[in-house]
Amino acid sequence: MAIFMFVFVVILGVCLLSSVLLRWNEMRYMRKGLPPGTMGWPVFGETTEFLKHGPNFIRNQRARFGSFFKSHILGCPTIISMDPEVNRYILMNEAKGLVPGYPQSMLDILGTHNIAAVHGSAHKNMRGAVLSLLSPAMIRDQHLPKIDDFMRSHLSNWDNKLIDIQQKTKEMALLSSLKQIAGIESGSMCKEFMPEFFKLVLGTISLPVNLPNTNYRSGVQARQSIVSMLRQLIEERRASQEIKSDMLGYYMSSEENRCKMSDEEIIDQIITILYSGYETISTTSMMAVKYLHDHPRVLEELRKEHLEIRGSKGPENPINWNDYKSMSFTRAVILETSRLATIVNGVLRKTTQEMELNGYIIPEGWRIYVYTRETNYDSHLYPDPYSFNPWRWLKKSMDAQKYLFIFGGGSRQCPGKELGMAEISTFLHYFVTRYRWKEIGGEEVVKFPRVEAPKGLHVKISAY
Ligand code: HEM
Repeated sequence: MAIFMFVFVVILGVCLLSSVLLRWNEMRYMRKGLPPGTMGWPVFGETTEFLKHGPNFIRNQRARFGSFFKSHILGCPTIISMDPEVNRYILMNEAKGLVPGYPQSMLDILGTHNIAAVHGSAHKNMRGAVLSLLSPAMIRDQHLPKIDDFMRSHLSNWDNKLIDIQQKTKEMALLSSLKQIAGIESGSMCKEFMPEFFKLVLGTISLPVNLPNTNYRSGVQARQSIVSMLRQLIEERRASQEIKSDMLGYYMSSEENRCKMSDEEIIDQIITILYSGYETISTTSMMAVKYLHDHPRVLEELRKEHLEIRGSKGPENPINWNDYKSMSFTRAVILETSRLATIVNGVLRKTTQEMELNGYIIPEGWRIYVYTRETNYDSHLYPDPYSFNPWRWLKKSMDAQKYLFIFGGGSRQCPGKELGMAEISTFLHYFVTRYRWKEIGGEEVVKFPRVEAPKGLHVKISAY
């Protein structure tokens, strides 16, 4: 009996002590100043409000607490930062302890060696390798010819068909990347890869609970099959001693692989590159098609640019680097599409130590949602911000302006920006020079938490 009493008193003591410590910790931060805001329900926080009401929830909280406030979303205490200057500071200062803070499910499925999971010198090395793979010279000589070849065939025989442009642009983004990355073209490996990849993508944005029938479990399993397919490919290439001029070949070649990546690291890089370009390219392409459909004057101007390029070459001549560089209106259409549709709402960071930020104390391990969406609709930066006006991007300084976060910023700024642009431009080239299209059914497009057409975006295609 005495032993039970003793255990009871010890447990009670520990509980009291920990609640006093927690309270003390909270008060310490209150004294020093956590940002204002609400934390919602225990465990769930304000996740439901955030996912259900998205931008409106964030705007309401901003009206109450200002553009830097605390919340509790997706399982973590989180600061939501909407001030362009503060956001810029956060993105530019990873070295001060503001590292990427993506959810556990993403880290588990993209792999521990993926670029967002590493910091400091490991990130610098990995980024160097990615940047040389995606450099303008590589795009010109290696990737663009493959993209052109892919688009010609992907966009053939669409006339008189009813096409779900969402589905087609998703397939396009994945298959075109597979061709550039590992020379995988239509065939059995492609067929095996595609469904696994779609499961992997779903798994990265799920709760990391490894139970049967969850997106997380199926994402983890999809990762395992993709890793074994890529490992087999690497082994086959090594056995045949053939050096191929694709991204995998580049990583495998000892001359080019200057940071001496292991096979595991190469595989995680390949998965990350596939993943990073997939949704961004597919959704931007789909939304460009939608906006062009709804804005005939823009379509006319874009088509003029592409017919001029086509008119200067034979039907079988591919798009080359000079053609791509001359597509200034197309570039403006892509930037305006990314801005207005807000393909990327923001990026996630976490603090590696307690720090002062924007006059408040942020505890160690808190997430910071660098929410850049609102900057896209700032009427000082973009007059008449809700209109689709690609011409605004033709002013020289716009593409380089300080608060342009469509491709992130600082030391993590997207290394695939130019490749993504080249891919979407080539898609638009063949689409507008070959076809006209009409939307049928006025299908809904939701913009938050990600841009998608829940029932697809169906268009009736006819030859141009
Ligand atoms: C329209 C297309 C694209 C958009 C809007 C876009 C957007 C972004 C954004 C906002 C970030 C910053 C993430 C952060 O700070 O945490 C980023 C990073 C990244 N993107 Fe892109 N991206 C696009 C295309 C691509 C493509 C085609 C590739 C690869 C072929 C790519 C590869 C990457 C990689 C590897 C990173 C991580 C960089 C690092 O951590 O240093 N992206 N992208």
